[in-house]
Formats: sequence, structure tokens, C-alpha cells
Amino acid sequence: MSLVPMKDLLIRGEEKGYGVGAFSVADMEMILGAVKAAEELNVPMILQIAQVRLPFSPLDKIAPMMIAAAENAKVPVGVHFDHGLDKEMIKEALDLGFTSVMIDASKLPISENIKITAEVKKLAERYGASVEAEVGQLGVSEDGSGDCSKIHSDPKEVKLLYEETGVDAIALSIGNQHGFYKAAPKLNFEILEEANSLVPVPLVLHGGSGISDEDFRKCISKGITKINVATATFSAVKEAAAFYLKNEKTDYFSMSDAMTNAAYENIKRHMQVFSMDKQF
Ligand code: 13P
Repeated sequence: MSLVPMKDLLIRGEEKGYGVGAFSVADMEMILGAVKAAEELNVPMILQIAQVRLPFSPLDKIAPMMIAAAENAKVPVGVHFDHGLDKEMIKEALDLGFTSVMIDASKLPISENIKITAEVKKLAERYGASVEAEVGQLGVSEDGSGDCSKIHSDPKEVKLLYEETGVDAIALSIGNQHGFYKAAPKLNFEILEEANSLVPVPLVLHGGSGISDEDFRKCISKGITKINVATATFSAVKEAAAFYLKNEKTDYFSMSDAMTNAAYENIKRHMQVFSMDKQF
């Protein structure tokens, strides 16, 4: 179908009451697996990569592959730059054709977060791209590093950031975390409900790996429209490669196929939950 702005995908998801999966990819196998799952289920999706992953998957190499996959997919696909940390890299992603970017200034005081988010929003408008911002901090960064203390989002700050910047989507911290959870997450649905009542834009749940199907559905019914999943896919692909090698089948292309299939299975499973049995 086509490469589309994130905003269009999320508005439609919000109207229809389903969640749009945003799947982090690091290589061709994950891109192929994600597209296969989306086409088979006939659901829209977002392919994304976070700035911290670029040492392993350079942006100028992986971006064209992500964009070509989106352009040639039979379903609408957004291509998103996740956890952008500085305006230079965000601009590079926009120049390469990403249809949305995230500015993650959540570690800064809200006034500074608003300032840089507004600048990114202005920049992205020149490209017709959508912007996601974050209010409140997740326990660890996208690559599992860091040790910032968990700070839940303050719904009043969510409202203020929206009013001052006009961003298209806002990520919340409600007890969710990047990486696998050490104990079952206890999500704070009151914060989600309050934030949702204060802003008209779709809300984003990061740290999708390890959240229960029931909590995913509850989040979607209370205002979450974009859901990020990374670790579960990376882990499934790694396990598939390890299993393949352990079984002494060392033909590279069959291993690559097994990795694509592992990404496909994991992403499809999440898409089935996020779809909430709705038509797209
Ligand atoms: P997980 O790695 O926990 O799935 O989180 C992904 C994410 O939120 C990417 O921004």
C-alpha cells in the first residue's frame, strides 16, 4: 500500500479502537518478518529504530531498507525514528524519509522538554512528518542501559506539553519499562486515564516486551494507541539463530530464514492482541 505518516495511522487506530504496533528492527530479517506478519493479518504497523541502536545498524544503511519495505507493503506502514536524542540525528532521519520521529527529552525538566520538543515539531512539519514526545521517565533506556529512577508521568505536564508543542503523540511512564521485566509490571491505569482525558492526541506505551495481553487490551481501551515492542523480537531472533546453530545446521540462508520466521511469529502474536478484533 504505502509509506504513511504515523499520525494518520494513530488517528485511525484511535477512532476504531485498536492499537498500532511499533516494532523495532535491527536488520533485514526483522523487517521481512514484520512485513510478512502485517500483510498476513492485514493490519497497519510502524517499523522503527532507536538512536541508541545506530552503532549496530547505521541509519544510512537501514533507513532505505525500512522505507522500501514500507513503500512496497500491501498494508499502510509508518517508518519511525525512536528515542531521538538530538536534533542533528532527528534531521538526518527526516532527510532519509522517516515519516515520524520521537524526541526523547524526558530526562530534562518539563520546561526544557517542551522547548526542544517544540523545535523538533517545527522541523518535522517541514517534512510532513509526525512527532512523538515523552513525559515522565522509563526505568532504563531503550537498550536496557542506564539506571534513572522510575518517574511516573504527571498528567498535568502531559497536558502542558501538548498545549505548548502540538505534538502528534505522547509517550507515558505508567510503570512500564524497557527490556524484559524482572517482576510482572503494575501499570498505573489512573495516570493513563487522566492523561487521556486531558489531551486529544494518541498516547504511546513503550516497553511492550512482557506486558500481559490483558494489560495491553486495558491500555488500548483507556487511550494507548501506539505500542512499542523491541526486546521480545530481538530475543526471539537470537534464540532462533542459537537453536539453529546448536542443531548443527549451519547453512547461513536457512538460519536467516529461521530468524525471519522468529521475528514474524513474535510480531504477529503482538499484532493479534493489539487488533482488539477490529477491522482496519
Ligand atoms: P521493549 O524493548 O521493552 O519491548 O521496549 C521497546 C520500546 O519501548 C522501544 O522504544
